[in-house]
Amino acid sequence: MSSSKRPAQLLKTVSSRVLASTAPTARHSGQSWSTMRRLSLAAQTRQQVLTAKQQPVVGTSVLHSQMVNDAIRVEFADGSTSDLSHLWLRDNCQCEKCYSKSALGRISLLKNLDINTHPVHVQEVENGSITVEWNDGHISEFSGEWLHQRAFNPTSRQKRRNQYALKKVRWGGDFCPKEFDYCNMLKDDQHLLDWHLAMERDGFTLIRNSPDKDVAGPELIEHIAFVKQSHYGPHSPVVVRADANNIAWTNSELGLHNDLAQYEYMAGIIFIHCKHQHVGSGGESLVSDGLYAAEELRRHHPEAFKLLTTTDNYYWDKGVANLPWEQEEFFKIARMPVIKLDNNKEVIQVAVNNAVRDSYLDLPAHKVKQFYEAMKIYNDILYENAITFKMAEGDMIVLDNIRCLHGRLGYEAHSTRHLESSYLDWDEARCRRRRLQEKLGANNNK
Ligand code: OGA
Ligand code: ZN
Ligand code: ZN
Repeated sequence: MSSSKRPAQLLKTVSSRVLASTAPTARHSGQSWSTMRRLSLAAQTRQQVLTAKQQPVVGTSVLHSQMVNDAIRVEFADGSTSDLSHLWLRDNCQCEKCYSKSALGRISLLKNLDINTHPVHVQEVENGSITVEWNDGHISEFSGEWLHQRAFNPTSRQKRRNQYALKKVRWGGDFCPKEFDYCNMLKDDQHLLDWHLAMERDGFTLIRNSPDKDVAGPELIEHIAFVKQSHYGPHSPVVVRADANNIAWTNSELGLHNDLAQYEYMAGIIFIHCKHQHVGSGGESLVSDGLYAAEELRRHHPEAFKLLTTTDNYYWDKGVANLPWEQEEFFKIARMPVIKLDNNKEVIQVAVNNAVRDSYLDLPAHKVKQFYEAMKIYNDILYENAITFKMAEGDMIVLDNIRCLHGRLGYEAHSTRHLESSYLDWDEARCRRRRLQEKLGANNNK
């Protein structure tokens, strides 16, 4: 914003202050204290001729500000405080030259951000905002509410973390997934939000009464966001197929696995819908929490944990289409550890799939046995803490596919068993959860 287009607010003359006395002199690029003060007072006078409504003080209003090193320390009306770095403030100027209100994105470029930027004048405004006049003459205004939300204190930082992703709660073999109703998820936003909250927390839910059609999963996913496709198309009939291009389309037992480990961007959430179940024994489902098992591994087998978090595995898939909507030819190779950690050493993804685990191992020969031992220990813990059940027709299990693993017992080849699987990504699911939380009220963090 140019200096001729200053925000039209009535400034608090009594509490205005020039924030230069504690700043290093070198920053003032030769301007004398009195020049800056004259500039600031001139700006202030221009403001005072403009009338603005007196706003009531709310908890997020800025009451006081003072200069501390390379930051402005603000005190909000609720008593909380935050140091706001000069650089951060300048980078996040909300004026129409620096920031697009329609795109909610920064127009200003990092290459143009002066690393030594500093204010020459800061003023609290009656409506709880602050205005900042910078050393290059630019003027920014920040509302108290905007600053309060972004305050550099543990409470505000934690709020943003919660908005980003909800806390995961680990579970073992006595777990019962929360149940939801297919039609209610389509009709009732609160029911849908409750499902989102359970999915982020537990990584496993059970949806009952799904309609008897192949695309019940994709239709529900479309209501939430959109389907994540793979080379198997938008949904896969899990039936026994001749010349199956995936072990899942046989009647064999499937070990506990994550789907699509052959993708570097593994599908975030899997929907497995039971259209027809196998009659008689066989076809039972197993589900285990890979996060729970990983923490058990970390605690009781630290060496194995270290190996599985630091050794890359290959997962691969090569084949040709079985069905018209599958990709004609595919050849995937993904490379990642069995357990992936984030910068805080928290588990963020597990990748276990014995069918698509590659026979190529990028390891020196003498490390192979240790690696197998570690994979087997993790696999054993997964099985020790798995739950087993048999899906009924209309049931749909939904799993956090980068956290929870599923498997099935083998069944007779000539069976009418028919499951359908489809996928949704976490970015889209969390996006919908945030919008639903906004719509239904922020306290929906059950
Ligand atoms: C799959 C799968 C489970 C089942 O298709 O990837 O795990 O019960 N199916 O058949
Ligand atoms: Zn600006
Ligand atoms: Zn599967």
